[in-house]
Amino acid sequence: MKILNLGSLNIDKTYSVNHYAEAGETIQATTHGEFCGGKGLNQSIALARAGADVFHAGCIGQDGNILSETLAGAGVKTELIRKSQKPSGHAVIQVNHEGQNKIMIFGGANSDVTPEYIDEVLEHFNREDMLLLQNEISNVPYAIEKAGEKGMTVVFNPSPISSSIEQCDLRKVDYLILNEVEGRKLAGTDSENPDEILKKLHSKYPQAVVVLTLGSRGSCYMDEKEFFHQEIFPAEVIDTTGAGDTFTGYFLAGIARGKQPGEAMKYAALASALSVGRHGASPSIPAYEEVHREMMMKMSQARLQDSLRELG
Ligand code: RIB
Repeated sequence: MKILNLGSLNIDKTYSVNHYAEAGETIQATTHGEFCGGKGLNQSIALARAGADVFHAGCIGQDGNILSETLAGAGVKTELIRKSQKPSGHAVIQVNHEGQNKIMIFGGANSDVTPEYIDEVLEHFNREDMLLLQNEISNVPYAIEKAGEKGMTVVFNPSPISSSIEQCDLRKVDYLILNEVEGRKLAGTDSENPDEILKKLHSKYPQAVVVLTLGSRGSCYMDEKEFFHQEIFPAEVIDTTGAGDTFTGYFLAGIARGKQPGEAMKYAALASALSVGRHGASPSIPAYEEVHREMMMKMSQARLQDSLRELG
């Protein structure tokens, strides 16, 4: 299965701060770095590092070679990326001492994804393939429509949530991967209870597998046959930027490679736990070998603890 990720490409300008700037306040950043990012680019890198056959499509500016080169360096196929006259998209990111972030994005070239370009890109794919979308490029509703018509597996990560999502026909989506805020909005509920959000989403969009991420409380999976919860793997937190993208890429790569949902969710949770211990979005995404090695270690530790418990 080929995976087409039609998604954003951003230059992330990241600043470490002791606290977020408030209205009227000027603060000093303690460090600054520039990284390749964008939810689209991060998810493509996570997919490729997890072993998927991934093609990235989207638009960059004349200043954006670093974005396509970084993707190519991670093993993502980049021949469908198009250059636009606009500058590449960028993000200004504040990361506080707890590793949490506040992000402001400027779309730039990401807003040059046209219906004509989407048609051209989709010609290279068929019903055996998967289309992954986030909400940082133009014409997302059109892409869902057209990929649905082709019979592709459509995966939507409606992030960042905005009113434009109302134009998307979510009945054409096969996988919805979203956080609690996005889940509440799409489910049309104020409930704080993740099970309720999931159930509402599932009854509104019964055709879709729903994966709800809950930050430090883990994640939940629901399809027509099963519902389960995946815990997080505890980790030292330095920068959470891109942790959700790492999760999405690892989960989908697992599904595309034929893993059971439980196994795919477990690897996704561990990959995102490893990513939060490092700075930046895309540079923090771990390689599959590292995730697998950690997983084996954790499983043998758990077996040892079980045996010790049995011995009393
Ligand atoms: O999910 C993290 C990403 O959100 C960053 O890389 C930034 O570019 C924004 O798109």
